[in-house]
Amino acid sequence: MNIIFNEVTKEFHLSNKNISYIFKVLKNGQLGHLYFGKTIRHREDFSSLYYEDLIGCITCPVENDVKFSLDYTKQEFPTFGGTNFTEGAFEIFLPNGSYVTEFKYKSHVIYKGKNKINNGEIPSTYSNDDVTTLEVTLYDDLIKTEITLFYSVFENSSIVARRAKISSDFEEALNIEKLMSCSLDLDGINYELLELTGNWINERNVEKTNVIKGKHSIYSLRGISSHQFNPFFALGKGKIDEFNGDTYGFSLVYSGNFLADVEATEYQLTRVSMGINPFKFKVILNKGESFETPEVLIGYSPKGLNGLSQNYHNLFKANLMKSFDNFKLPPIVINNWEATYFDFNEEKLLKLATKAKEAGIETFVLDDGWFLNRNNDKTSLGDWEVDKSKLPNGLDGLCSKINDMGLNFGLWIEPEMISVESDLYRKHSDWVVSTPNRQVSHGRNQYVLDFTRKEVVQYIYESISKVLSSCNITYVKWDMNRAITESFSTNLENQGLFYHNYILGVYELYEKLTTKFPNIMFEGCASGGGRFDPAMLYYSPQIWTSDNTDAVERLKIQWGTSIVYPLRAISNHVSAVPNHQVLRNTPLVTRGNTAYFGAFGYELDLNETKEDIELVKKQVEFYKKHRELIIDGDFYRIVSPFDNDRNMCVWQVVSKDKKKSIVGAYKVLAKANDFKKNIKLVGLDNNLEYKIEGYERTFFGDELLNIGVPITKVFTGANGFVLSENKDEIENSGIFGIGDYSSQIFVLESI
Ligand code: DGJ
Repeated sequence: MNIIFNEVTKEFHLSNKNISYIFKVLKNGQLGHLYFGKTIRHREDFSSLYYEDLIGCITCPVENDVKFSLDYTKQEFPTFGGTNFTEGAFEIFLPNGSYVTEFKYKSHVIYKGKNKINNGEIPSTYSNDDVTTLEVTLYDDLIKTEITLFYSVFENSSIVARRAKISSDFEEALNIEKLMSCSLDLDGINYELLELTGNWINERNVEKTNVIKGKHSIYSLRGISSHQFNPFFALGKGKIDEFNGDTYGFSLVYSGNFLADVEATEYQLTRVSMGINPFKFKVILNKGESFETPEVLIGYSPKGLNGLSQNYHNLFKANLMKSFDNFKLPPIVINNWEATYFDFNEEKLLKLATKAKEAGIETFVLDDGWFLNRNNDKTSLGDWEVDKSKLPNGLDGLCSKINDMGLNFGLWIEPEMISVESDLYRKHSDWVVSTPNRQVSHGRNQYVLDFTRKEVVQYIYESISKVLSSCNITYVKWDMNRAITESFSTNLENQGLFYHNYILGVYELYEKLTTKFPNIMFEGCASGGGRFDPAMLYYSPQIWTSDNTDAVERLKIQWGTSIVYPLRAISNHVSAVPNHQVLRNTPLVTRGNTAYFGAFGYELDLNETKEDIELVKKQVEFYKKHRELIIDGDFYRIVSPFDNDRNMCVWQVVSKDKKKSIVGAYKVLAKANDFKKNIKLVGLDNNLEYKIEGYERTFFGDELLNIGVPITKVFTGANGFVLSENKDEIENSGIFGIGDYSSQIFVLESI
């Protein structure tokens, strides 16, 4: 891990054993980008990476120099106004209404470690003695303003963290209407772009498109990172492939409104920028003030998308998820939401808990509906006091009984919300986010609390702290069920900071609660996966992936989520059939086989359903036995549910020493006589000999990597099963291809 500055050529070379990132001070003092990719040897002069030519019809910033133009030059932090004709990474309005700036290289520092953003106001990756940071300061004389660009290189990663800060010493206020975290210019425009899109119960679908001239944006304007676009995208040279090719990733550590632009220019450059969404955003920067952006994690992999994903997974676990070590192994939960919805009482919950305990489940999570009069979603948000008509012995009484059974106790909260039908609203209707003299839109019958106001965050902190101190809670599910509308705060002079300050309020509450209750594991949630982003993972090691619990739908959702996020973060529950979101009947075995790849649990009434409790016990045992491997191992996506008409999905987790592995193989629809297909594995050691559970013979790594696991138990329609006899038993037999939605798990261990 090395950062070198060449005084003569004014070139910076950031590198480690995986990557090189090179840029330089241009002749007009701005920063020009030279290279980002696989490590290259250091040279005293990288001028061969710099390009200038006599190009027709360009404008030039340097007197008597007819070649140099920002129009076609790769840059680090471009801006509009001079010879650059894209929108650029920042926009500053001066008091006279002008917006032309001249930020020139002033100084730089290189140091070990990595500072927090605004003293921790915005979550970010941290150093474990494995980071070196470069800060480059650019200065505009006329407005006495600095822009500092931060670059952090991690020792064992192919990821560079980038962010920006602006500080003014100008007498008058400056209006900052855009300040992206980073901009990066990649050579060529022959890229495929991958984004994760969707909506409620349909999150993080993989969509790919060829980059063509012009601009493509992904963004959120909902106040949360959103179900619609995850704050991530990847670019693959040529085509994106899971295993091959130069692949770049961009992941923003932020949970509010964001924007990512990918723009292919006529000069054969692909310009990328990412950060806080500039739409409706404004910072009024007075003398002596500064503003810092969140960070973007820019990744590179020469080994396709899987390589990129593993980089993010490893970095998130080691340098982002601050409670990862504390809560490394996810507890197996039973959550009562789909089992009871709002209709429960203590007796019903205890019955559910008893059965869960019998199955070996470890934590009982009480979802929505436990507080004052909350019998449907129309009331009570904001009143965080237990409803004694449902729970006469209080939370404490219920929790003690659950604990006495040997189960831990978890609780649902939705701290950012308020219902009109609540004591809090009767006292503080002014705390609702709304625009004066305008209607206020509702969402799920509820309203958003103004978290830009310190006193609101403090009040909620105190009331939630009271609940969390009231009994032995080890797990909190923090929900957030609507987008923000009519944004405005009476507390803010500058409404351009509303969305940003809102999310800072959320971070503040997370920081306070996780600090006060270090032994409680927080699970993030926003109507399922509406706020599944790296900043949330800083506080909560897992996030409820989606309100869609159907095993088939989950193949896609979990696949898409795994492109950025580690399995530790992906919270999955086995639920009842017919499934509540799509009314599909899938075998219990497949529901388990899908949910294993993440933080595993159940969300159904084990007393009421026809589920085979013996099979549930086996699943729980399986997860307990293998969860360490699932969490610590390298995850590989092999056969995509997006690419083959949804009929197959295969993924695999391999221990770091390659001695153990688990493969999940799923066949969505049965196909007649779809005989004998080997499943080629990945990530194993060529020379190790593996035993696969259920197989007599052993296999060498090279056989499994090049030929695959032979599927021996395939239903061909002619092998003697009488389907009418016991359909459930047959469906759950684990025979691949029998009936719709079959699946198989392979457990490998080297001998
Ligand atoms: C939305 C969440 O995603 C669900 O899991 C559940 O907690 C409900 N909210 C409760 O209102």
